[in-house]
Amino acid sequence: MTDSKFITKLMPSKSDEALSLGAEYLRKGEVVAIPTETVYGLAGNAMSEGAVAKIYEAKGRPSDNPLIVHISSLQMWEQLVEKITDDARLLAEKFWPGPLTIILPKSERVPMKTTGGLDTVAVRMPSHKDTLRLIELSDIPIAAPSANLSGLPSPTSAEHCMRDLEGKIPLILDGGECDVGIESTIISLCNDTPILLRPGKITAEQLGAVLKKPVKISEAVLNPLKKGEKAFSPGMKYKHYSPKAKVILVRGSLEGFKNRFNNSPKGTYALVFKGEEEEFSQRAAAYGFEHDADSQSKNIFSLLRRMDDLGAELVLVRCPHEDEALGVYNRLLRAAAFDVEEV
Ligand code: TXA
Ligand code: MG
Repeated sequence: MTDSKFITKLMPSKSDEALSLGAEYLRKGEVVAIPTETVYGLAGNAMSEGAVAKIYEAKGRPSDNPLIVHISSLQMWEQLVEKITDDARLLAEKFWPGPLTIILPKSERVPMKTTGGLDTVAVRMPSHKDTLRLIELSDIPIAAPSANLSGLPSPTSAEHCMRDLEGKIPLILDGGECDVGIESTIISLCNDTPILLRPGKITAEQLGAVLKKPVKISEAVLNPLKKGEKAFSPGMKYKHYSPKAKVILVRGSLEGFKNRFNNSPKGTYALVFKGEEEEFSQRAAAYGFEHDADSQSKNIFSLLRRMDDLGAELVLVRCPHEDEALGVYNRLLRAAAFDVEEV
């Protein structure tokens, strides 16, 4: 590799040595890949413009796309926001540490670079215990987008991070496969009505039940941006999470899906529900049980990556149920650039 800046080390995140090295890099303004319960993150000091610039560069990410800041204590949160509102506190008490990101107006101290020029900041306390220790050890809030190259499926293992970032960063902490498998739920509490900007394991219903008021689901969750429209959450743009292969979501019966598959060219692969894969040639894999969002979330990104390893040209995906697995549906819609076929 000619453009390598680093010989990337891979170390188990449970080792003390790895965590102190990680904390040292973070304090020095370098970036490090870290495990979280959702997906792997590409971590850097959220308060340092230089470190944040390195994150955008390693990921190849447009700098108008704001980063999520990861904390290990509520005191850290106080430094980052104008004020922790009662609603925000309620949600944090119930869901942190865990896969929920809360957006509030930011304090002066958070660099605009971290928030992509917005005057709000997205914060979460992750539950992976090694990463919580890493944040405590480094004693700084950690900005971390998903540790994939921009546009590719998010990484759910250290190996995925290595594929995308080898040579670009000094260290990857290996904390095993991610439990959840899709990114955190994002809620904005910047207005009177709470708005769900990105669906994840924690649902709008669960959030509404704690807040005792309805949570509005942002239009961008299920729809492409209209031409010229500005994204409320810039990461919800058109195409994202995509393998090289073309992805099409196929909604309808298993019979209809089989017909579509059997009439497709040779390089076509199928992602189906557990129990259905036997009905296909080898060119099929199951990504989860039909009515179980958690099992689908855990596998979907690694299977999308596997499709490229297998040289797939077209991937047909059994469409998850929107009302049961909104997070998975939202990611697949983007992986497919909103190409949904009814059968
Ligand atoms: O689970 C997760 O949240 C993972 C792990 C590593 O913690 N992180 C993650 O980060 O998914 P990223 O950068 O890939 O996605 C962050 C999303 C983007 O869609 C971004 O536009 C949105 O959060 N976001 C961040 N700050 C925002 C803000 N102030 N207002 C609106 N959207 C924001
Ligand atoms: Mg991402």
